[in-house]
Amino acid sequence: MDWGMKNRMSQLFREDGHCFFLPIDHGYFQGPTSCLEKPGETIAPLLPWCDALFVTRGVLRSAVSPVESKPIILRVSGGSSVIGEDLANEGITTSIEEVLRLNAAAVGVSIFVGSDYEYESLMNLAELVNSCEDFGIPVMAVTAVGKELQKQEVRYLALSCRIAAEFGARVVKTYWCKNFDKVVEGCPVPVVMAGGPKCETALEVLQFVHDGMQRGAVGVNLGRNVWQNPHPVAMMRALYAVIHEEATIKEAHKIFNSVKKSG
Ligand code: 5RP
Repeated sequence: MDWGMKNRMSQLFREDGHCFFLPIDHGYFQGPTSCLEKPGETIAPLLPWCDALFVTRGVLRSAVSPVESKPIILRVSGGSSVIGEDLANEGITTSIEEVLRLNAAAVGVSIFVGSDYEYESLMNLAELVNSCEDFGIPVMAVTAVGKELQKQEVRYLALSCRIAAEFGARVVKTYWCKNFDKVVEGCPVPVVMAGGPKCETALEVLQFVHDGMQRGAVGVNLGRNVWQNPHPVAMMRALYAVIHEEATIKEAHKIFNSVKKSG
């Protein structure tokens, strides 16, 4: 691995090999998402606990300070919206020159395996890997399911993750599922868990994140389950403990309750 690639990968992962990415890219297909209407205000108290931000160039320029920023994973795919025909119909939205100009530590692209746009989304990934590898920029593949949430099961996710890695993704982001170790075992690059729609309780979030970490995930890319929680800082702090401090579910939940009380 060349110096630039190594340097960028080390911006994403701590010395423990784990990561806590904070995604705020949701607006790129669903507009002003609840609690993310003003992304700059949402992330201000959360930044100290995350390792990188997952964001589009538009929100990066308008809402993230270039002086005190965390490493940036730039969302570079898009082209469909929640009110359009098919969320899977995406292209690459951001040139390699722009990725370099914004000094991104990595880029993220969605793939929709098994959808009507499987081929197009996999070619998006392939072409992005081709251009990014030339400049030492890691590509994170996002195994997306569009509106078909039933696809969040082990055989489908293992298939998608493996394909993403075969195409050259340096990191793969996917949903947690039961038997998550099967997803990790079949994927030769680090696997990060996404959150999905908000869980009922903080405890449920801590439980699935803890389970995924025990089964080999390297970390999370968790959005709505953090910033849509009424106590987002407490959520960040508790998740940080699971990801970087080997906290048990009980210990992390205690942290959540104590930060919640103090804030
Ligand atoms: C949206 C994304 C998000 O980054 C991903 O879904 C994680 O966010 P959440 O935890 O809210 O699901 O890729 O396209």
